[in-house]
Amino acid sequence: MTQRLPTAAAFPATRLRRTRASAWSRAMHRETQLTPANLIWPLFVTEGSGVEEPITSLPGVSRWSVDGIVARAKEAVDLGIPCLALFPNTQSDRRSEDGREALNPGNLMCRAIRAIKDACGDDIGVLTDVALDPYTSHGQDGLIDASGYVLNDATVEALVGQSLNQAAAGADIIAPSDMMDGRIAAIRAALEGSGHINIQIMSYAAKYASAFYGPFRDAVGSRGLLKGDKKTYQMDPANAEEALREVAMDLAEGADSVMVKPGLPYLDIVRAVKDRFEVPVFAYQVSGEYAMIEAAVAAGAGDRDALVLETLLAFRRAGCSGVLTYHAAHAARLLGGRPY
Ligand code: PBG
Repeated sequence: MTQRLPTAAAFPATRLRRTRASAWSRAMHRETQLTPANLIWPLFVTEGSGVEEPITSLPGVSRWSVDGIVARAKEAVDLGIPCLALFPNTQSDRRSEDGREALNPGNLMCRAIRAIKDACGDDIGVLTDVALDPYTSHGQDGLIDASGYVLNDATVEALVGQSLNQAAAGADIIAPSDMMDGRIAAIRAALEGSGHINIQIMSYAAKYASAFYGPFRDAVGSRGLLKGDKKTYQMDPANAEEALREVAMDLAEGADSVMVKPGLPYLDIVRAVKDRFEVPVFAYQVSGEYAMIEAAVAAGAGDRDALVLETLLAFRRAGCSGVLTYHAAHAARLLGGRPY
């Protein structure tokens, strides 16, 4: 059914600038709002204690040892940020061809989850990334065969183990970012089977093989290891219909919410998913997008605060419930508890 707009009176009876003429009126006519509750803060964990390692390609973002992560979690609670997303920088001697460190109950990720939950309890949610790339010696998200091809079904089995490991450590949202087929059904069945009935799954449903992930790979230490690309499992940036099929399958398999990634260049996908499925949609403003904003600021091409708020508001307008963004703490501080 085509929707018809109400007929507007012709100019000058209609002057669309009337409602824009003052700040109070603009505030009253805002169709979309951004609040700290719309933000998910991705954090990188590293070994040690009292460690902060700045990430050169992600200026302003650091890896933190577990104690620092706990401090960031408390900061997030104070800022009204409801959820953190954790990614480990696994020591190289713990990386292997099969990424088995992902299954270790004492791995960096599990220690960080437990420490946050011990310190903050239910004051904040912990979303954990499921994929093998921070643990493999080759930087791919799954298990590979002799030719380097990423195996689907064998990888799904490993991801189920990784998910249960994170669930046992206290993760609140399992977020598979690997793009294997059938992994949501397998993870959901395993969570139900082990009594974790209230652990959510936020599926990276439409994740594209993107050039915007470079700084993230530096942050988790996989950039130098990765040979080739991830195009046999991540989506072709040319495709939109296929994104809807990915989302449909992940929802049918038991995802509670879905994610589109990267963010700004893919807002058309966010809108299409929201319109079609009417489910909670999230987007990831990824590392390369963050770096672009910071580079623009450094070059004097724009004002950081304004760029941050405008881009995050654009995600909301496109239909996002929330955004994973490295600017989360900064944005929440700018908002100061008031919606923007
Ligand atoms: C890997 C993963 C990636 C990101 C999140 N999980 C990178 C990749 O697929 O290579 C990227 C996030 C970012 O760039 O900020 N499972």
